[in-house]
Amino acid sequence: MTKLVNPTAMLQKARKENYAIVHFNINNLEWIKAILKAVQETNSPVILGVSEGAIKYMGGVKTVYGLVTNLMDFIKVTVPVALHLDHGQTVESCIAAIDAGFSSVMFDGSHHPLAENLKLTAQVVDYAHRKNVAVEAEVGTIGGEEDGVIGTGELATLDECQAMKNLAVDFLAAGINNIHGPYPKNWDGLKLDLLKDISENISLPLVLHGGSGIDMEQIKQAISLGISKINVNTELQLEFQQATREYIIAEKDQTGKGYDPRKLLNPGTIAVENKAKQLLAEFGSLGKA
Ligand code: 13P
Repeated sequence: MTKLVNPTAMLQKARKENYAIVHFNINNLEWIKAILKAVQETNSPVILGVSEGAIKYMGGVKTVYGLVTNLMDFIKVTVPVALHLDHGQTVESCIAAIDAGFSSVMFDGSHHPLAENLKLTAQVVDYAHRKNVAVEAEVGTIGGEEDGVIGTGELATLDECQAMKNLAVDFLAAGINNIHGPYPKNWDGLKLDLLKDISENISLPLVLHGGSGIDMEQIKQAISLGISKINVNTELQLEFQQATREYIIAEKDQTGKGYDPRKLLNPGTIAVENKAKQLLAEFGSLGKA
């Protein structure tokens, strides 16, 4: 029996009470363990997001589902945990995640023309809601680096958001000048006026992708304007990298059995856990289980 929860109620409560649930992207066993420990120790609800690339890396949707739910048993997790497909590119990949037991999926049709995005999102909503699985949709696009070129993404429009809301999606990612990966030095910030407009007209919980490295002032404003889910991946990857780097530079891998992967990966795993706790506190969902 799965212990995973549909995150819709978690996000609606966050929106009402003015904080954001953290969606942590998971990349491997160490990530899942570190985040589950962080949320259990701090009594915090969480969404574990997994991209199609990470699913492939970890061995498919069934492996990911098994890893997460078995680790939840092993760590004796009692806080609400949702397992969410991040940026599902096709209706089929969403269905595969739902059939494997995920409690939430994102269908990212943002690269299709709007009519096609709406048509495919509706198919996902129909399948997901029959199985009590939540659906996130995307309008506008999230920028990011591709082949060394940083795209700024397309801003969402109110009409697009309304059209998605009419499909009964549970929460919505709208492009507001946010970017996956590190923000470039000349980034001109989140379009908070646009977010305000969307938020005042669309009562759905809103999702901020590219949550790594945005200053707290903007994060706070974004939360007060209806952002209820913040996706973070890069920030934890950088923490892991830095701690692993320090271990190797200190030549600890060459001391005793320091080459053992359980030792080699340990500082990075602890760093991920600590950073996760910090983000839960900063985004306001710490202790909200
Ligand atoms: P970052 O890697 O920039 O934190 O973005 C994560 C994300 O939005 C996943 O959907």
